[in-house]
Amino acid sequence: MEFHVITLFPEMFRPFAGPLGRAVEQGLVRVEAHPLRQWGLGRYRQVDDAPYGGGRGMVLRPEPLFAAVESVLEQHPGLWRVLLTPQGERLTQRLVRGLAERRPGLLLIAGRYEGFDERARALADQELSIGDYVLAGGELPALVVIEAVARLVPGVLGNPGSLDEESFGDSLLEYPQYTRPAEFRGLRVPAPLLSGNHAAVRAWRREQALKRTAARRPDLLARTKA
Ligand code: ADE
Repeated sequence: MEFHVITLFPEMFRPFAGPLGRAVEQGLVRVEAHPLRQWGLGRYRQVDDAPYGGGRGMVLRPEPLFAAVESVLEQHPGLWRVLLTPQGERLTQRLVRGLAERRPGLLLIAGRYEGFDERARALADQELSIGDYVLAGGELPALVVIEAVARLVPGVLGNPGSLDEESFGDSLLEYPQYTRPAEFRGLRVPAPLLSGNHAAVRAWRREQALKRTAARRPDLLARTKA
């Protein structure tokens, strides 16, 4: 799966370490940053300008954004275009699963400064926010999207089964996990997990996931089949 990012800070997309780094090395996932500055206007490669009507800060001009998207799509046709903005639809695991189906991949457009010219919205198939807070730009949101989507690509995770039961897999938080030792500073691993009885383990985990979700995220329970 391919991830292309249009950004003023391409260097933020280079150090891919950890499990995704391995996926990149193995060629399962490709991440390519395209410097917006490359499509800047004039001698100074200008990408932004003062807002009409006045006000704080600078706004990304539409021409470099359109030129960038058109050029990347010419080289890589068929990418699903995603604009990162706090005004977008809030990212959820359901949306992440949908993005993971998009082939050959995603074209992520990261805004900067106080925002972008309203006409640039026409460039996007989808607008996404990673949460109700404001970041300085769309780069970290783009990285969040890349990591959340890439780990669903077959082969990227060591153990595909671990996708099935994780938090939000069926709109529940994950059950508590334990490993050795069976007792640590007086805290014991719950008995059902040590029982070797698979049915008992499954029942305990389901119950814990429901309890935990009810306590921490009752909003999620409303959407879950019991
Ligand atoms: N750009 C700035 N803040 C953002 C957010 N929360 N989500 C997506 N893009 C953003």
